[in-house]
Amino acid sequence: MIEADLAIVGIAELATPTGKSARTGSELGRLQVIQDAAVACRGEEIIFVGSRRDLTQAVRLDPRGMTIDAAGGTVLPGFVDAHTHLPFAGWREREFDERLRGTTYSEIAARGGGILSTVSQTRAATAEQLRELVRGRLDDLLKLGTTTVEAKSGYGLSLADELKQLNALRDAGRGHPVEIVPTFLGAHTVPNEYRPRREEYVKLLIDRVVPEVARHGLAEYADAFVDANAFSLDEARRVLTAAREHGLGVRLHADQLADDGGAMLAAELGAASADHLEFSSEAGIEALARAGTCGVLLPAATFFLMMEARPPGRKLVEAGVPVVVATDFNPGSCPADSMGAALWFACLSARLTVDEAITASTLNAAHTLGRADRIGSVERGKRANLVVHRMPNRYHLVYRFGRPRVAQVIVGGKLAYQSGARSSTLNL
Ligand code: NIG
Ligand code: FE
Repeated sequence: MIEADLAIVGIAELATPTGKSARTGSELGRLQVIQDAAVACRGEEIIFVGSRRDLTQAVRLDPRGMTIDAAGGTVLPGFVDAHTHLPFAGWREREFDERLRGTTYSEIAARGGGILSTVSQTRAATAEQLRELVRGRLDDLLKLGTTTVEAKSGYGLSLADELKQLNALRDAGRGHPVEIVPTFLGAHTVPNEYRPRREEYVKLLIDRVVPEVARHGLAEYADAFVDANAFSLDEARRVLTAAREHGLGVRLHADQLADDGGAMLAAELGAASADHLEFSSEAGIEALARAGTCGVLLPAATFFLMMEARPPGRKLVEAGVPVVVATDFNPGSCPADSMGAALWFACLSARLTVDEAITASTLNAAHTLGRADRIGSVERGKRANLVVHRMPNRYHLVYRFGRPRVAQVIVGGKLAYQSGARSSTLNL
């Protein structure tokens, strides 16, 4: 009989997608659901998932091991947030107030606010300050049930400041339960000092910054923002092609504010993901499906920008695109870091079902980050990253929208967070 060192019992419902790659179409919402369930782990790995009454026949708990009582809660895989802009300094609440009074996000960007105001604040922060900011945000994410987070640079926009952001991610992530997947977003917008000579900025990215980021192993992916206030299709293509030649995977901010042909470009480049997609054409969406490029919905950002366009949830599912739901956490278009909140909007606005949204925020999100063989589902052989939600079943995640109800978070087979515990982040 196998020996376990952690058992989780008292699970009213366990719900998880299964497999090691993204689910599409009618398979997106197919979950394995077990009532009165138990999970057992050994080291970092899950060794048993099944009915509570089968647990004792299948595994023996090491007498020094730990049993967690889920107290009638629901267990899901840890959330994988596949799109954030985590290493930033400063907030932009005044711009938010301006937007409420009628100024648009694009108007603020065009007059030099928006992303550029976060660039000034991020450049002014020291490496240590930035590291501490990221560290605090990782603690917050853990409490919200996020166990893996993709994090983009893109508020440095110079060699030194982009490296500072990526180093802050690496340093803050060391020893933290939340795993960071770093992405280089030097092509977020053209910084002020290069505005009159943007071609030089594109060349700087291609000739110096991308090679330096790759040489130090500071990013797994490169991303670019195709937009009237950011980069053209051709500029983005050049930067991302260079990144690919240096061994980085590719992602793209595509068709967020207009149909710029971003989805097409992402498909052409064989990108891991195309993100936003509010204005993508049907041809663009079909191209994503053919290329196997994931479509990342950021429905909390769509909502927060008060856009009339809805995130194209059903269109992506129907076209067979592997759908992912993420937050887009950043100080401009989505100051909310909660995957729970992203799920509310994914269902209530992008019209996914709860089961589809669960797959999109776990297994499919792990897939787009190249990790679906290791994480993204609660299955034997996968890393034990799972969350106990204080609710009798998974529907309550969205049904009782308004606040997350995370009770316990297990990362790598260890209890990393327990709500109400005296020191709330455990085993650091
Ligand atoms: O994904 N669209 C570009 N980038 C971010 C927003 C960044 C910001 O406003 O600071 C986004 O929405
Ligand atoms: Fe973004």
